[in-house]
Formats: sequence, C-alpha cells, structure tokens
Amino acid sequence: MRRRDLLRLAALFPAAAWLPRLGHAAEAGTTSALPRPGDDEAYWAEVRRQFLITDGIFMNTGTWGALPVPVLEALEAHMRAFETVFHQTPFDVHALRAQLAALVGAPPETLAFTRNTTEGMNVVARGLDLRPGDEILLTTQEHVGGRCCWELVAARHGLVLTQFPPPVPAPSEDALFEAWTSHVGPKTRVLSIQHVFFSTGAIQPVRRLSAWARERGIITVVDGAHPPGMLALDIQSLGCDFYASSPHKWLLAPKGSGFLYISPEWLDRLWPLIASGGWDDLALKGDRFDHVGTRNDSLLVGFQAAVGFHNAIGSDRVERRCRGLATRLDAGLRAQPGVRVVSPAAPELRSAMVSFEVDGRTGTEMQQRLWAMGPVRVRHVGEDNLDYTRLSTHIYNTPDEVDRVVGMVGEIARTG
Ligand SMILES: Cc1ncc(COP(=O)(O)O)c(C=O)c1O
Repeated sequence: MRRRDLLRLAALFPAAAWLPRLGHAAEAGTTSALPRPGDDEAYWAEVRRQFLITDGIFMNTGTWGALPVPVLEALEAHMRAFETVFHQTPFDVHALRAQLAALVGAPPETLAFTRNTTEGMNVVARGLDLRPGDEILLTTQEHVGGRCCWELVAARHGLVLTQFPPPVPAPSEDALFEAWTSHVGPKTRVLSIQHVFFSTGAIQPVRRLSAWARERGIITVVDGAHPPGMLALDIQSLGCDFYASSPHKWLLAPKGSGFLYISPEWLDRLWPLIASGGWDDLALKGDRFDHVGTRNDSLLVGFQAAVGFHNAIGSDRVERRCRGLATRLDAGLRAQPGVRVVSPAAPELRSAMVSFEVDGRTGTEMQQRLWAMGPVRVRHVGEDNLDYTRLSTHIYNTPDEVDRVVGMVGEIARTG
C-alpha cells in the first residue's frame, strides 16, 4: 500500500490498530479521503472518485453496493497483515457494535452480526417457539431472503403462511397499513414486513404496524435489507421485535456483512440458530447470536470502514442525495410515453429504488437493451409473475446518469 493511501486510511480511521504504522505521525489526519461535506455537484464528484466504478452506469445497489476504495483498502490491509501471522491484531468487535448501534439507532447489546438479511431472517424464524396452526402473514411480493425461512418452519412445524397482494403502486401509507391489518386473523402470530419493498422500493409504515401489532400480541419481524445506508434510521423507535439487514447493499460494506436487531424483550427468549461456546449465556445479549465459529475479521474491518465512510458524509446527506436522484428519475420516467412507474408517486413512500414497466417490452428485454445501450446495470424483478425493471440511485450516481438512463428508457419505449 502506498504512503498516500495509508494517510487517507489513517485520516478516516485514526483508532484503527490494524493499520500499518505511519512513519511520520504528524502527517496523520492532515489528509482526508473526502472533502468537507457539502451538497453541490463538485462535492458529489469527489465522492464519486472514491469508487472503482468506471465502465458504465451502476443502478443496482438494491442487490449490492460498490465498495468505496478506502473501505476496500482497509479490508485488504487487515487481511494482508493477518496473513503475516506475526502482525495479527485482534479486531474489536464491540467497537464496531457500538458504532453500528449509533448509526442505526439501537442499543449495542441488541445487535448481532450475521452475513446478511437472509441469515438474520432465518435466525428469527427458526429461533421462535411457534406452534402448529400459528399464522405468519406476509405479502406476495417478498424477497426469497425474507420468505423462505417462513416456508421452511411452516413445512416443518405445521404453521400457516398467508400472503396477500400489496397495493401497487402504493397510493398512501393508510392503504399499505390497511392492507396488512385487514388480513390479520385470530391465529396471526407474526407479521413479516419488508421495510422497503425489493420490488417497487415502496416504504412501509413499520412504526405504525409495529405499534398496532404489539397491542395485539403479534410479533413483528422486519426484513430491513435496504434502509441502512439509504434512509436515516432509528430502529428502536420503530418498535418492531426484530430487524434483519444487509449493509453490503446501501451502507457499502463488504459482501458478507449483515446484522440482526433483537429487541430487548427477545434477547433471552430467542433460540440461537447456531450454537457454540456461550450459546446459553444470557449475559452475552446480542453477542450470544454471533458465536458462530471462526469468521473473517477482515470483513468486519471493512464493515467498520464503511460505517466511517458513511458517517464522514452523514446519513441525512446520503438520504437526501439518494432519494433526490430517485425523485429526478421518477419524474423523468413518468414523462416518457409508454412507461408505467409502479413505485409510489407520493414522495414520502418512495425510497431510492424506482421500478417501472414499458408497454410491449418485457423486463428481460429492458435489462438486455439497457445493458447494450449503456451499459446500465439494472435489476429485472421477475419474481412472483412480476415483470418490472428496477433502478437504484446511490451517492455514486449522478444527475447526468439519471437523465441518460431516462433518455434510453424513453428511446426503447418509442422505438423498441
Ligand atoms: C427485501 C430483501 N430482503 C432480503 C434480501 C436478501 O438479501 P441478502 O442476499 O443480503 O441476504 C434482499 C436482497 O436483495 C432484499 O431485497
């Protein structure tokens, strides 16, 4: 690693013990990978320079994010040092837990590290004591990562899985709320709710639903794959019982970074999915759920660097940028003849993912055409008989990219 790169890392993560020593300590902290936060295009252009994305327009953060270079370098530096065997520094997982807790609005002891949302959802589904006949309620637009865990426990323990179609495009928060509550029956024990739909990007009223469910003794499990790193988040104030996430998406952490929030009243009652030393030591709190054997600490180092990178910009600023670009995209797409946006029109329900259909074109065709024209990397949402094209806008995207993609979609819609 070059000295200049080391200085950049040291400036972002001054307390990181795993960084190779700097020869000239006085220089540490005098350079920064990012300029002072701002909101103008010059600032965002500098942010964009922190990424390796060069050959096209990347609009699929909803699947996974691109690592900022300082995050990649932190991960790589730790991995290299570790493999020298004699320069291994133990990673302070509790420091990361505290930093993540501050970022997502949860007490540190309520967090467990996982690989991703899929794992977190499985920890919950398989760790609850549900009985034959208990009903799990979810929509017909769940991601497999949040749905299959319920299918498994339903098949194994005789539970009932009820799926209902959500309103699309979601007209209002009330409509989303009522879609849930009108399907709850006497046997409903769990609501499994995506905070942000993977299919349309619609934001669900998790706080309201959690309060409603709590009054009726119903458990709320939130598939929160998308919000961290996209929306400013305060998990505990949502009032849900569990919240599983994938910071490898919008928080731009390494693939394999996940977390699970377990609300205080469940910390002693949920069964861990994987048992190792301390599995029954309740004093460990959330830590009890991530004693999973040897793991790759370099990924956690990268995760910590991603939290540092995000904080250097600021959650509110990130959210404004991501959603601001999505608003521009949404408006551009709605103005194209033959294009039907399936994401909500109401700004408060719209996240940083916009999905649409084009008359006479399949989603697969759209994906192929945009790849050929851009290349633009998009997500085809083909699950459950849907046929949407989904575009994600993150801090490395630009207004110009948004406009170019709108132009391409318009051209495909016009000419085929
Ligand atoms: C809503 C939702 N839930 C769960 C997942 C699964 O995420 P992971 O593969 O990180 O477990 C995704 C992935 O895109 C998703 O969009």
